[in-house]
Amino acid sequence: MKKKFRQILTRWYSGHKRTLPWRGVRDPYRIWLSEIILQQTQIAQGMPYYKTFIESFPKVEDLAKASEDEVLKLWQGLGYYSRARNLHKTAQIVTDQLNGRFPGSYKELIKLPGIGDYTASAIASICYDEASAVVDGNVYRFFSRYFGIDTPIDSGTAKSEFKNLAQELLPERDIGDHNQAVMEFGSQQCRPKNPDCQRCVYSSSCYALQHEMVDRLPVKKKKTKIRKRFFNYLIIKSKEGQKILMQKRQKQDIWKNLYEFPLVETTCSVTADDAIIEEVGNQLLNNSEFESWLYNDKDVVHKLSHQHIYAKFWIIEAEKEIETGIPISKVNSLAVPVLIQDFMEHYRLTEQA
Ligand code: ADE
Repeated sequence: MKKKFRQILTRWYSGHKRTLPWRGVRDPYRIWLSEIILQQTQIAQGMPYYKTFIESFPKVEDLAKASEDEVLKLWQGLGYYSRARNLHKTAQIVTDQLNGRFPGSYKELIKLPGIGDYTASAIASICYDEASAVVDGNVYRFFSRYFGIDTPIDSGTAKSEFKNLAQELLPERDIGDHNQAVMEFGSQQCRPKNPDCQRCVYSSSCYALQHEMVDRLPVKKKKTKIRKRFFNYLIIKSKEGQKILMQKRQKQDIWKNLYEFPLVETTCSVTADDAIIEEVGNQLLNNSEFESWLYNDKDVVHKLSHQHIYAKFWIIEAEKEIETGIPISKVNSLAVPVLIQDFMEHYRLTEQA
């Protein structure tokens, strides 16, 4: 049964696998980079980032030598920025402590920052043919449907249950190809919505299809809770001046180590006659004269997977030049959240034209 399952998969994969720049490669640096980029990211979105990273940092030493700011800048727009910070840390450990060589086993790989069970298995199987099965969202979906598993994929036991099953299905050889075939099948054929089950190589053996359960599997226990946040950004600049105040986010929160305008976060939406913006403006400008107004009438809603940010941009125009500010023309070289990048583009077009 296992053998048949694998034969069908191998045949499907040879006819359907996408040509990707890291396919057929066994260099752990490239595989690691591609797998970190592809977490929580579609291949089409991740591909240009992979290319840029390889061009900018052909070897792990090049990535290690870069500053974290540079790495975050190249990562801009991909989200989940802890991936980029860990990428940089791991590149430095490999370069400085491991003579530029990635560890040669799952057990050692998993000790590195940002490398969990999934990434360690992907690297170990693809680069070293180690028998470690990958389990990602694609694998959960494919296996829960094919085998009719209704364990909620966000429950404590799901990980080990699916890992054990995936492990049992591994072939003797070509483990990396098998792992990639499982993921590719999950993303291309066994899609989350409207999979084409009538034209599926497993149509006669898939449990979910036989039992009309395709749209009910995989099971998820809880709905993702969305947290609403209200961000007030203060664009602090002088009338004629070309400098603007920017700060680096330091806290353990979204966008850590990215740059943004001074931020006032509130528990609900602020209106123009609220004193808070005025107060913070006074603090930041040491009580010197300024005028302020709201730039966007409607909140800009920026959606992340677990948070919706309602953003207001307040223009604070001071009489004097902002000496501690950075030139507006340089804002572009800083790593900023897409929310800030989009604002800057709009602002430049409307105000600076
Ligand atoms: N998704 C993430 N990594 C992948 C890989 N190596 N092959 C197919 N899909 C993937």
